[in-house]
Amino acid sequence: MNVYDGQRIAAMLLQRGYAATEKIADADIIILNTCAVRAKATDKVFSALGRVRRAKKTDALFGIVGCVAREAGAAAFKRIPDLNFVLGPQSYHKLPDILENPDTKLLNIDLGGLEKFDELPESSTSPAVAYIPIQEGCDHCCTYCIVPYTRGREISRPFENVMHDVRHAAATGALEICFLGQNVNGYKYSDNTGKAFRLSDLIRETAKLDAIKRIRFTSSYPTEMTDDLIEMFRTEQKLLPFLNMPIQSGSPDVLTRMNRPYSLDLYIDIVDKLKAARPDIQISSDFIVGFPGETDADFEKTVQIAKQIRHINSYSFKYSPRPHTAAALMPNQIPENVKASRLAALDGELNEIQREFNEACVGETMACLCEGADKTGKKLVYRTPYMQQCIVDAPENGNAPQMADIRITAANKASLRGEFCDQN
Ligand code: 5AD
Ligand code: SF4
Repeated sequence: MNVYDGQRIAAMLLQRGYAATEKIADADIIILNTCAVRAKATDKVFSALGRVRRAKKTDALFGIVGCVAREAGAAAFKRIPDLNFVLGPQSYHKLPDILENPDTKLLNIDLGGLEKFDELPESSTSPAVAYIPIQEGCDHCCTYCIVPYTRGREISRPFENVMHDVRHAAATGALEICFLGQNVNGYKYSDNTGKAFRLSDLIRETAKLDAIKRIRFTSSYPTEMTDDLIEMFRTEQKLLPFLNMPIQSGSPDVLTRMNRPYSLDLYIDIVDKLKAARPDIQISSDFIVGFPGETDADFEKTVQIAKQIRHINSYSFKYSPRPHTAAALMPNQIPENVKASRLAALDGELNEIQREFNEACVGETMACLCEGADKTGKKLVYRTPYMQQCIVDAPENGNAPQMADIRITAANKASLRGEFCDQN
């Protein structure tokens, strides 16, 4: 989501005659686009702000956008007095106001909903992977999560607006579309005739575009994995056989306290249905360890479910108490050292599962998308349909195909090695 927001801000500045610079000391405007999901991310923002403050030109405009801006609000100006603007994740389209009135301080952390999508210019080129938000906010109210506070209630963008963005991306260079939403599979939109649209409609419509070779979406909430969407994995071959569907914990008690009211059986049932639709599908998850009251037995259940589902490409986090959340006030907060050792244990298992999956890919041929070259320029980095990195020797003639069939020749826990299929 932040990558997308950052691209929209950059496009707006480019259109106004700004150019990118690598050096803070050269910049006329410096914007930190921030994430507040864990305390560590927020802390990093304030230490980065301190660094920028010392390195920037005195008259450079300087501010923060995104969730930390919304979380800190006016207090951000108290902490860093020379900040010029503090704009929440739904008000960064107000940035031109500060360009026009650089001597003022601009604070806007309103939840304006979808305005930002309509007010900023479109980029004239798309990266190969186009991230397209289809929804803002989240109505799930997991007790640990600050997102419902920072990004507000869930609102789905109009179907036609999303499809406009998809077609624009396809026409300007995108090969892969990644639909984004905090609760992406909860996408629901009714037009003024009452016709209802779901994520499955967006996928079906996008798959018709010749330029688009791969489609994916993230992140999915387990109970919103409806049959029409599962069916897409059977009928739309452009939809990648890979799904991020966070389970967060394998303990029913912890899930209840997280306010994630689904059973492990339901989760397993959905995975089974997905596998029936697309036998080669792989599932990824997010996990939180050390949630308030989590016992050793609860934690063990998380490890067990990861081993049972064999989650690949997963993310695991120590629980981080956040302002404006119910879990921060719960009793039995877990000490940092216990969280750290549980995280290390879970990561050990997840790495092992990933290594095993990577090794099972050796000998397979996969349609991969080029992400670019490594530092030497001699190796190319591709993404497999399962989001693994695959390193390939660059062709001597310097032509790197953007999409290529690649035979996987070797694997370790972090990445794959491969060769183009037409080389013997
Ligand atoms: N502490 C730790 N992890 C969190 N996440 C969200 N809130 C917290 C928190 N307070 C994780 C969840 C979510 C991912 C985006 O971030 O696993 O899926
Ligand atoms: Fe946060 Fe995701 Fe839960 Fe929504 S579904 S409250 S974004 S963790």
